Amino acid sequence: MLNVKDPETDDLLDDENIRYQIITFLIAGHETTSELLSFAIYYLMNNPDKLEKAYTEVDTILTDDIPSYDQVVKLKYIKMVLNESLRLWPTAPAFNLFAKEDALIGGKYPVQKEGERIMVLLPSLHRDKSAWGDNVEEFIPERFEDPKKVPHHAFKPFGNGQRACIGMQFALHATISFFQMAMKYIAIA
Ligand code: HEM
Repeated sequence: MLNVKDPETDDLLDDENIRYQIITFLIAGHETTSELLSFAIYYLMNNPDKLEKAYTEVDTILTDDIPSYDQVVKLKYIKMVLNESLRLWPTAPAFNLFAKEDALIGGKYPVQKEGERIMVLLPSLHRDKSAWGDNVEEFIPERFEDPKKVPHHAFKPFGNGQRACIGMQFALHATISFFQMAMKYIAIA
């Protein structure tokens, strides 16, 4: 962002714009990741069998005090825990979309390109029983074990399309790292 020129205007970001970007990153990236950590810990405390699986993975992979990038990437079960926490309580719970052209969604809902917005409410989308099954209220990280079985169009915690979250990879990587530190302080009930 600091060094790359706009392909259309050939301009770099000016100082004021850089300041706006930093503030946006701070706001967009702070509460979302910290609340994800809180929800994930809450769910693990209430599901001791999942907590035990998480402990086993962390103890097996993280053998040093400070996690390396490669170790964090290997924490597959922790990532599943975070995804399932984001499914139940997406920490940015809604976003707006507009239609590229006038359309009739599902043969039922007319949407005009001009002047109409659709708000996607993620806690409802993520509890759609036709996509997730009847046990939508249960905390089951294993839903995310096989990426091919995840109903991706019913899982949008990081938004959609060209305005989707620019910080997704950073957020997940950082939360997994914080998470293993937090696990030192929580006990199996
Ligand atoms: C668990 C953590 C996070 C969640 C759940 C999350 C969720 C989202 C969602 C749903 C959007 C789309 C909003 C919309 O379409 O109106 C978004 C956009 C954005 N996020 Fe995140 N976010 C997270 C972490 C972060 C982090 C760590 C950063 C930066 C350091 C970040 C920066 C942004 C920015 C700049 C946008 C706007 C992108 C654009 O409009 O082009 N987010 N985020």
